[in-house]
Amino acid sequence: MCGIVGYIGKKTNIQKVLIESLKKLEYRGYDSAGIAYVNNNKINIIKEKGKIEKLEKKIDCGVMGKIGIAHTRWATHGKANENNAHPHRTGMVTIVHNGIIENYLEIKRYLEKKGYHFKTETDSEIACALLDYIKATTKMSNLEVIKEFTNNVTGSYALGIIFDDDLDTLYATRKDSPLLIGYSENVKMIVSDVSALNSGIKNYYLLENGDIVKLTEKRVSIYDNDLHPVSRKKLNVKVDGNEVDKNGFEHFMLKEIHEESVVLESLLRKYFSNSKTFLKKMPKLSKYSRIHIVGCGSAMHAGLVGKHLFEEYANVETDVEVASEYRYKKVFYDAKTLVILVSQSGETADTIACLRKAKEDGIDTLVIVNVPTSTMAREADFVLNIEAGTEVAVATTKAYLLQVAMLILINLKMMVEREMISIDELDKYLQLFGEVPKKISEVIDLDKEYFEIAKNIYHEDNIFYIGRGIDYAISMEGSLKLKEISYIHSESYKGGELKHGTISLIEKNTKVIVVMTDCDLKSKTISNIKEIKARGADIILITTKQLDDDYDFVSKKIVLPKTNSLFTPILSIVPLQLIAYYVAKLCGCDIDKPRNLAKSVTVE
Ligand code: G6P
Repeated sequence: MCGIVGYIGKKTNIQKVLIESLKKLEYRGYDSAGIAYVNNNKINIIKEKGKIEKLEKKIDCGVMGKIGIAHTRWATHGKANENNAHPHRTGMVTIVHNGIIENYLEIKRYLEKKGYHFKTETDSEIACALLDYIKATTKMSNLEVIKEFTNNVTGSYALGIIFDDDLDTLYATRKDSPLLIGYSENVKMIVSDVSALNSGIKNYYLLENGDIVKLTEKRVSIYDNDLHPVSRKKLNVKVDGNEVDKNGFEHFMLKEIHEESVVLESLLRKYFSNSKTFLKKMPKLSKYSRIHIVGCGSAMHAGLVGKHLFEEYANVETDVEVASEYRYKKVFYDAKTLVILVSQSGETADTIACLRKAKEDGIDTLVIVNVPTSTMAREADFVLNIEAGTEVAVATTKAYLLQVAMLILINLKMMVEREMISIDELDKYLQLFGEVPKKISEVIDLDKEYFEIAKNIYHEDNIFYIGRGIDYAISMEGSLKLKEISYIHSESYKGGELKHGTISLIEKNTKVIVVMTDCDLKSKTISNIKEIKARGADIILITTKQLDDDYDFVSKKIVLPKTNSLFTPILSIVPLQLIAYYVAKLCGCDIDKPRNLAKSVTVE
């Protein structure tokens, strides 16, 4: 999604510095990019549609400067083109903007009456013009102009601003869209993601909603929305170089799948290797009789696995909903309900809204998150960090797997609290869980088989996934992975539901990937396979050692190593991730940056 960079500091090759930081935001997804910098007391703006490499070709990289702002745009209001790309400039003001100004039409009409003309289709240009209008029609200082602006707009924003009458100062503000300030002695930066900071910057401040910031080469001044100076917590930059490097893998996605066993092993070893550390780390959940799990995309799919486990094993009624629905629907909860928000980034706008909705209603919230400094991690009542490390590929793999792992651990905690298992049994479960990372490696080692499956299906227009119970939840995620990165249409269905309509789509050679790991539902799933086989489907089966048999009706079979059924979803997703990866590779797709998708969706 959109990314912001701003630099102020000692004189440098300003275009290069801005471009380098923008490149670090590429993984978040974007469709145009631009920079603005001051040279000879004048603002210069260069923008381009498409990849940053195209923008780079437009610049000479020899310009020295002290201040600049830059942006990667993921189109919301107006097409992805050079004109709509940021930075925007009106009168005395140049900005980059993340978020959505919800009352932009109203402001636009007002400003048009005042003589403003607009060149783009964006809400951001309106924001820029409003800042200029306030500046031109009042005697306010630049900080006051920003404050007045924030009083007149609704929606979400992170803004980097340069005023023509103060070209040695970078201004910023934020509300419901992430922004942080990196600083070293001679350089200050604003960025929407810590990974975009210059390597020389080791410290940063996280901004609170409503903060207004003034940055000069030597000074960071942060004010609250009443313009009272405030101090914000200092944090250290912890970006492991290893994490932003492909380490010899062709794509980040492949590297991140290969990291799955390592990150799971490290999470379990650190906090969950025995009942003592486990009980210390896990929040007390005994008072909750009902759980709502909320998330978007893969995070919601992890929630579907959680629902199955919580209901089957811990006997706790659980609802799962996508955040964009949950935030607006009538929700039935009470003091005995726990709302679990699942999010890799901790910045997904819809999920944040659900967190706030629950909090406003006095309901306890727990967030499962990968970014401990994120908005969700800061606002939730309980936080469980999955510690997957930076995930660069837009399509999540290792973070999803750890979200599922964390839900399994929550499930174990609830089973202990409900006295469904003893502490000794918990230790036994944790020991078995500790063996799972090695099994993930064994599943990954079947690499050649995934490639063979991919070769057999990559030319298809439609691919179906089926499963029952927990296997349906896993097949939902497998299907999403495939369509996200290969652009092949794919759907996931509950095995038993096929004959109520979807079976009409099955014809000779239709590829169907079946996930069958649930012992109790084996015979039912086999009946479903037979039904579609009779209509010509070509079956690829993902099953476990326990359920394996001489199935002559499948054309390809992946057999997962033996494990306790509680941990099977951790293993069964891996083949689906790798099949999607190889299909996308054979299709020649941009695997790490699929079209139209963003890593972190910070607008509604
Ligand atoms: C985007 C990403 C998905 C992710 C979803 C939720 O759509 O492309 O991979 O599952 O957002 O993101 P979150 O950061 O909240 O897990």
